[in-house]
Amino acid sequence: MEKYVIKGRVPLDGEVTIAGAKNAALGILAAAILTDDECIIENVPYVEDTKVLLRAIEALGATVRYIDLHTVSICGKTIDKDNLCVDDEYIRRIRASYYLLGSMLGKFKYAQVALPGGCDIGLRPIDQHIKGFEALGAKVDIVSGGKVVAKADELIGRHIYMDVVTVGATINIMMAAVLAEGKTTIENAAKEPHIVDVANFLNSMGANIKGAGTDVIRIRGVQRLVGTEYSIIPDQIEAGTFMTMAVATKGNILIKNVIPKHMEAISSKLSEIGATVIEYDDSIRVMADGRMKSTQIKTLPYPGFPTDMQPQMATTLALSSGNSIITESIFENRFKYVNELARMGARIKVEGNSAIITGVEGYTGANLVAPDLRAGAALVIAALAADGISTIDDIKYILRGYEDFDGKIRALGGQIEIVNDEREEQKFKLRVS
Ligand code: UD1
Repeated sequence: MEKYVIKGRVPLDGEVTIAGAKNAALGILAAAILTDDECIIENVPYVEDTKVLLRAIEALGATVRYIDLHTVSICGKTIDKDNLCVDDEYIRRIRASYYLLGSMLGKFKYAQVALPGGCDIGLRPIDQHIKGFEALGAKVDIVSGGKVVAKADELIGRHIYMDVVTVGATINIMMAAVLAEGKTTIENAAKEPHIVDVANFLNSMGANIKGAGTDVIRIRGVQRLVGTEYSIIPDQIEAGTFMTMAVATKGNILIKNVIPKHMEAISSKLSEIGATVIEYDDSIRVMADGRMKSTQIKTLPYPGFPTDMQPQMATTLALSSGNSIITESIFENRFKYVNELARMGARIKVEGNSAIITGVEGYTGANLVAPDLRAGAALVIAALAADGISTIDDIKYILRGYEDFDGKIRALGGQIEIVNDEREEQKFKLRVS
């Protein structure tokens, strides 16, 4: 089984180019089937989650073609209208399968999708998605085999108030509403950059969506959508991961292809603990020298500190001086990496939804298991900062969301490799010792 083997204690130095945003791509790829015309989507990250979603879209009957590694053409015209069912062993593993509910319901007034999986970071209900679809006039049932079936004779715009701020439900309701009759208002909408990106994509197809990026989104239904060419925004979380990697390894990384405005919550926390963060038009340089200071962080919906950066930041703070506290307010099961970090020497105590961190001078290498996508990335950061060699198992989680993670780290001078067996692991160890 593939795992990472990492020799730490090398300050990472150089440049890294950030891929397109995974979470925007998942919404946009699903939204592309809302038209019968061809959509050409650029800057699609080549990661497991987008590959699985594209396979599901193809299985529906759409014509899906990679023009190059990061450019995908999707044409929904060939979708088999008598078989609007998405279910395979892979799609159940990704959370974003639920976006096909919104886009198929919007286009065909019928959708049947296997219940979403994704990272086990909490309960992750979909009641707000269902509430939105029902408000638009759909009937939604959960049938045997764990499938959600949504159907409607017609979809009619409504005023929808979200009980919680949810990225997934906001995007899903937008997709279901763009072709509905009349006006839909989503109140208490999520404001994440990828919501704006999905809305911009839909508008480039001829939709009429206003207010994305604020907490009130107004959608006026249109008769039909048309083909478009669109380029996805850079990945805020991949960028943030490399920013914290620069700090934890006391390195100096120029992170290219980013939108600095999207990074503000992360940039300001890293500056606050003592790192140097320099913003340019579309890149950010992060440098760190010596030990950082402690701080307090609470994860919040955008523009607050992103929950998807919580494990990476905790890993960095656990090497800082003094006591830090991280409070997780979005997902209830997001501290599973703490036990792994403890095996490297970290001192973190979890109390309720807070992690109380007592900074240590350094980590020592250990054999680790990635519990989920972002926690897996955090363990890679810890291993890069640690004394000695670490291995990280279950990297399938990390591959879901980071394109060429090991290659990008190697280009920064990090000693990391994917190995398939004991022999390859020994070879790496001999080479780096
Ligand atoms: C998306 C991201 C994920 C990120 C999260 C929060 C994708 C594919 N995934 O996940 O990486 O961590 O946003 O930024 O884009 N909730 C409900 N009912 C619902 C839906 C959500 O109670 O119907 C709750 C969730 O349990 C959670 C909170 O709302 O506590 C936020 O979840 P949401 O923003 O929907 O996360 P996802 O879309 O699943």
